[in-house]
Amino acid sequence: MQRIGIIGCGYVGLVTAACLADAGSSVLCADSDKRKIAKLKSEGVPFYEPGLDELVLKNHKAKRLRFTSSTTEVVKGSDIIFICVGTPSRSDGSADLTAVEKVATDIAHAMDAYKIIVEKSTVPAETGARIRKTIEMAGRGKTEFDVVSNPEFLREGQAIHDTMHPDRIVLGVESKRAEKTLRALYAPLRAPVIVCNIATAEIIKHACNSFLATKISFINAIARICELVDADVLKVAEAMGLDKRIGPAFLNAGAGYGGSCFPKDVDAFIHLADQKGYDFELAKAVRKINTDQRTLLLKKIEEVLWNVKGKTVAVLGLSFKPDTDDLRNSVALDVVRALQDLGALVRAYDPKAMPKAKTELKSVRFAKDAYDAAKGSHCLLLMTEWAEFRDLDLGRIHKLMQQPVIVDARNFFDPETVKVQGFTYRGIGRGASAPQPRR
Ligand code: UDX
Repeated sequence: MQRIGIIGCGYVGLVTAACLADAGSSVLCADSDKRKIAKLKSEGVPFYEPGLDELVLKNHKAKRLRFTSSTTEVVKGSDIIFICVGTPSRSDGSADLTAVEKVATDIAHAMDAYKIIVEKSTVPAETGARIRKTIEMAGRGKTEFDVVSNPEFLREGQAIHDTMHPDRIVLGVESKRAEKTLRALYAPLRAPVIVCNIATAEIIKHACNSFLATKISFINAIARICELVDADVLKVAEAMGLDKRIGPAFLNAGAGYGGSCFPKDVDAFIHLADQKGYDFELAKAVRKINTDQRTLLLKKIEEVLWNVKGKTVAVLGLSFKPDTDDLRNSVALDVVRALQDLGALVRAYDPKAMPKAKTELKSVRFAKDAYDAAKGSHCLLLMTEWAEFRDLDLGRIHKLMQQPVIVDARNFFDPETVKVQGFTYRGIGRGASAPQPRR
């Protein structure tokens, strides 16, 4: 059984580690954040991902999953080493790969036998080649090694499911030996395996995320047109999705995409293409449509509230999507700040993300539940479609608000139901039933 090393205990590293340990591998994880390692050794996972706490604790107790602050210990004690460190966006849209280079150098210095180094973090094409060069130079050729690109396709909130039940495994390899070893590691998952060279695997990841982002921006653009001709984007999306060539997923119009992946990956892909001399206009349009969604939402709120200054807006949901406490590139945070810039008073509630939101937002009244948030508000703004909001007693909300207005950034509510209950309703692409936001 191959000994597994994981460097970087974030969403990707920790989920990969826990799932491989649960499948029987011995896994040793390192992270440069000593506090995170201490917490993992004692209390569990430092972020919310459904089921991850239990999986980590179970495998840590069974000693299949161990934690250390020493990268050297991981390298010397592993046969396959996964690089799972962050690759955040820089201001020019390029991916910041300094952490990847640092890890590659540390691996080179610690390597004492043949190792397979797996690039798991999402990186631009040609990063694998850079990792090889770095290890060759820093390691001075003292031992043989292989680099593999094995991109993850995990959705936050469903990361364990997506790891255990992948649609496919992608292996970007440079040797039969590495291919054989990784095929054996993933064999129990019984998923289709795509084998290619490293650059192809790196492009696959960026292409997948950019295409998903394209679907979202496409339906958001259609929603804009629906509002001009009194059409309903939900019906459009439903009919489109029944075409097997299109499929229903990722056609939910709304406030646009956020998170730690789509914005970063689209930016990095555009930057890579630009660097190589191709103007990726399509991806630039996807990004612009997505950015414009925030402006559209603010215009809707202003249209329905008239003067925003001094008004109280109750925001339901702060995380970038449901079932996570992740606030990275959350549209909700941008909208809260923009509302405050317009002079609005903001009350907010999120089932999981408020502890983190308290360090990101100022002058927000954090509520204990949705009703507390709605108290005295002039507008209820649904930003993240948490399942618990399905059970809201709208009659009680109606009584608590100063005026019964709902702006629904995720088309979460049924317009007819809320209108019958006396609310003024605004959704995204739900027909021209409302006067158009001022241009
Ligand atoms: C995404 C990819 O799905 C995953 O395969 C990749 O590995 C990492 O990036 P994630 O960012 O966790 O996963 O969330 P996802 O569920 O894809 O949603 C991304 C964003 O798109 C969220 O802000 C969500 O609100 C938004 N979204 C999603 C829409 O606006 N409409 C949709 O129909 C779907």
